[in-house]
Amino acid sequence: NAMLEWQRTGFHFQPPKNWMNDPNGPMWHKGWYHLFYQYNPDSVVWGNITWGHAVSRDLVHWEHLPLAMVPDRWYDLSGVWTGSATILPTGQIIMLYTGSTNESAQVQNLAVPVDPSDPLLKTWAKSDSNPVLFPPPGIGARDFRDPTTAWYDPSDDTWKIAIGSKDGSHVGIVIVYRTRDFVSYELVPGLLHRVPGTGMWECVDFFPVAAAEGPEAAEGMDTSAAAAAAGPGVRHVLKASMDDDRHDYYAIGTYDAETNTWRPEDERMDVGIGLRYDWGKFYASKTFYDPARRRRVLWGWIGETDSERADVLKGWASLQAIPRTVLFDTKTRSNLLQWPVEEVERLRMSSKNFSGIVIDSGSVLSLNITRATQLDIEAVFEIEGEALAMTVEADVGYNCSTSGGAAERGMLGPFGLLVLANERLSEQTAVYFYIARGTDGNLRTHICHDELRSSRANDIIKRVVGSTVPVLDGERLSVRILVDHSIVESFAQGGRTCITSRVYPTEAIYSATKAFLFNNGTGALVIARSLTIWEMDSTFDHPYSTQV
Ligand code: FRU
Repeated sequence: NAMLEWQRTGFHFQPPKNWMNDPNGPMWHKGWYHLFYQYNPDSVVWGNITWGHAVSRDLVHWEHLPLAMVPDRWYDLSGVWTGSATILPTGQIIMLYTGSTNESAQVQNLAVPVDPSDPLLKTWAKSDSNPVLFPPPGIGARDFRDPTTAWYDPSDDTWKIAIGSKDGSHVGIVIVYRTRDFVSYELVPGLLHRVPGTGMWECVDFFPVAAAEGPEAAEGMDTSAAAAAAGPGVRHVLKASMDDDRHDYYAIGTYDAETNTWRPEDERMDVGIGLRYDWGKFYASKTFYDPARRRRVLWGWIGETDSERADVLKGWASLQAIPRTVLFDTKTRSNLLQWPVEEVERLRMSSKNFSGIVIDSGSVLSLNITRATQLDIEAVFEIEGEALAMTVEADVGYNCSTSGGAAERGMLGPFGLLVLANERLSEQTAVYFYIARGTDGNLRTHICHDELRSSRANDIIKRVVGSTVPVLDGERLSVRILVDHSIVESFAQGGRTCITSRVYPTEAIYSATKAFLFNNGTGALVIARSLTIWEMDSTFDHPYSTQV
């Protein structure tokens, strides 16, 4: 079926077939990036979870390797679940993962590479001491999973790990253990953090983040370095994947190793209440420190929004998001900046420049691109004249998800791009800005994806998703969009707000795929001050040699 075949991506990570979920144990080792992932080798639906494994020199070209771990012990018989890697200063690699036992209880297990001198780390040995951790008193046997990467605490010369859970009253909690050998562990008194009403916290991530620029930049990101936990000016990000609503929430705060507590800088923006990594489909993410390029990189699982029946027909389910570098936004000081790793730019082929195009109110302009199925788009918009200052519209609480999307006209928006669209626009995914004046008199900018017309198929979840994005005085509106067959990833204002959509065109496929500019606002001309669109190369055509 050509339509289903077309949905496979050109430059996003996916196994050749079957089900995938969370990214696991990402790391860099002897010149290779490793990605493990939750994988069902037998089917397109979740189950029989093993660890798939792939390696890359550059985070974009991947070579698939044999399964790294399979459920073959009593302590992981119901699944080799999510885990994280820690690289000790000696170079030793520690893998901690959750086992779902023969009785479906959750325990933590230790695995190490059989041959650490093998750059590809193909074979893994589960420790004879497994399981190394059982749920502590008061914690449900099925509410104890997904250990983090360990961080070094110089104050007591131990390694610490965090594990997400919930207590008896639906409070999301983070439990911390200390260890010296990764075999025996001691529960650290208290909780790293708790947020009432948030339920089970899956895939907790806890990491120091570097500033985007200025004197604070770059240091302190490596949790295995002695300085990491302690350095002044180092902020710690706490992230949890909320099982209740299936979104990844984060907050920026400060960590006090001595009292084993982390606090959000702004209580109103606590984990699960305020910021999300992504306002579309994005879950169970995990960062790692890349010593080769001295950056922190984020992986995230992008599930399907089509039906299981469609997955069976196409033979696969899920993608990984393009890996994103993560920095603290020194301009807003309130959010992270997420941006596709720079290696993605090497996939850029021919480009077209559409800078200076004026988009009249109510118009749709076709962009002349030959192959619009794999694109990298960088757009900067400007509202003409006095419209911005004059707008009076009191859009009290415009909200992407409750709005009418790209078809609902306001004064200053919606405007932006239509991607994965066909000529007659019967299929289109809109990436748009919408500016509204709030009750407080301030302008508020929203960035949204409108999936409502993304496919003629009717077995698909179609929504309008998005959020507000901070726009500082004097800044223009900007968005970068990655388009890859059945996925659209947007990064607004340098990555302050991100949105990912899975979309399943039935007509806007192959050479029928087009892109457009549109302005559905009634109140202003919009100028595409700069607009560059690159066609993107495919990565699976050029597998790297694994001969090393
Ligand atoms: C998150 C998750 C984890 C678990 C794994 C099982 O998607 O539920 O909590 O370890 O997937 O596949």
